Amino acid sequence: MTNDDGSRLIFGCMGLGGDWGTGPLEAADVAAAHAAVDAALEAGITDFDHADIYTRGKAEEAFGRVLAERPGLRAGIRLQTKCGIVLAGDGREARYDSSGGSIRARVEESLRRLGTDRIDTLLIHRPDPLATAAEIAGAFTRLRDEGKVRRLGVSNMSAQQMRHLVAELDEPLAVNQLEMSLHRRDWLESGVLVNHPEGAAISFPRGTLEHCAREGVELQAWGSLAQGRYSGRPAASDGGAGRTETDGAPVDTDAEAARRVAELAEEKRCSREAVVLGWLMRHPARIRPVVGTSNPARIAACADAGRVAAELTGDEWYSLWVAARGRPLP
Ligand SMILES: NC(=O)c1ccc[n+]([C@@H]2O[C@H](COP(=O)([O-])OP(=O)(O)OC[C@H]3O[C@@H](n4cnc5c(N)ncnc54)[C@H](OP(=O)(O)O)[C@@H]3O)[C@@H](O)[C@H]2O)c1
Repeated sequence: MTNDDGSRLIFGCMGLGGDWGTGPLEAADVAAAHAAVDAALEAGITDFDHADIYTRGKAEEAFGRVLAERPGLRAGIRLQTKCGIVLAGDGREARYDSSGGSIRARVEESLRRLGTDRIDTLLIHRPDPLATAAEIAGAFTRLRDEGKVRRLGVSNMSAQQMRHLVAELDEPLAVNQLEMSLHRRDWLESGVLVNHPEGAAISFPRGTLEHCAREGVELQAWGSLAQGRYSGRPAASDGGAGRTETDGAPVDTDAEAARRVAELAEEKRCSREAVVLGWLMRHPARIRPVVGTSNPARIAACADAGRVAAELTGDEWYSLWVAARGRPLP
C-alpha cells in the first residue's frame, strides 16, 4: 500500500457520531471516530467528507474531538463539508435551504463543531429551487474572502445546474459529488445506451461527466461501496432490489456480481472492497470514491483499490458491469 493508492479515496464521515437521534455525543462514539480515522490514515486517506446533517451534527462534533485530541492532524488532512439540507423535525418536513443566510449560519456551525478555522471544500448538498445562483455565489465569496472556506463544490447536480451557478462565481467549481457505483450505474449507462430503448428510462443528466472532465471539476462518488452488497453484506431476505429477469427467469444480479467480485479478489489477491472501488476508479473520469464504512477492517480493505484499478483489464471491467446489469449489453 502506498500513499498514492489511498490518496484517491475519500473517507465518508456519515457513519461517525453514533445514531441519528437527538441525544448527545457519547464517549464511545468519539473512540469509534478515533479508530476510523486511524484506519483511514493507515490506508493513505487524507480527505474527509462531512455534512452538517450527518448524525445531526454529531459526526462533525466527533471529528472535532478527534482533531482536538491530536494536535498536528488538521494540518495534514483536507476537510470537506456540505450544507443545504434541513432535516425533518419540529413538525416540519425535510427541505432544502441554500439561501445566503443559511449557508453562512451552517458554515459557522460546522467550523465550531469541527473546531477548525477553515473548511477546505464546501459542497451545496442538493439543488434548492428557491435559492438563486447569485446568493449562493455571494455567500461563498464572502466566506472565502474571510478565509473560512477555500473552495466551492456541489453535490447531486447536473451540468446545466453547475453552468448556471458558475456563471455567478469568479472561480470554477471544485467538485461534483454524485451517487456512482457498480450498483448505481445510471451515470455510466446514460452515456452508453444512447439511441436505445433502455436508455430512455435513465434520468441521469447526460453530459454531466463530460462537463466535469472538460472544466476540471473533480468527480466524487458517494455510495461507492454499493453499501457492501458485493463485498459481504448479507442479502436482503426479500430478494432485494438487485433482481432482474432474463428470458422470464429471475436472476439475482447482486449475487452474480458478488460472485464475480469474489473471483477477481481471489485472482488479484485483494479484498472484495478493492475490486468494487477499483472498478469505479478504472473509468477514465478519474472518479474519487467516497467510502462510507466506519468499520476499521473494511476501511483497511479499501486501501488496495488504486492498484486494482491499474490492473483491471477491459475484459474484467466489462464482466463486472454485465454481472451487475444481469443482462448483456445491447
Ligand atoms: N452527497 C450526498 O448526497 C451523499 C449521500 C450519502 C452519502 N454521502 C457520503 O458518501 C459516503 C458513502 O456513502 P454511503 O455510506 O451511502 O455508501 P457506501 O460507502 O457504499 O456504504 C457504506 C455503508 O455500507 C455498509 N457496508 C459496507 N460494506 C459492508 C459489508 N461488507 N457488510 C455490511 N455492511 C457494509 C457500511 O457499514 P459499516 O460502517 O458497518 O461498514 C456503511 O453503512 C458517506 O459517508 C457520505 O460521506 C453523500
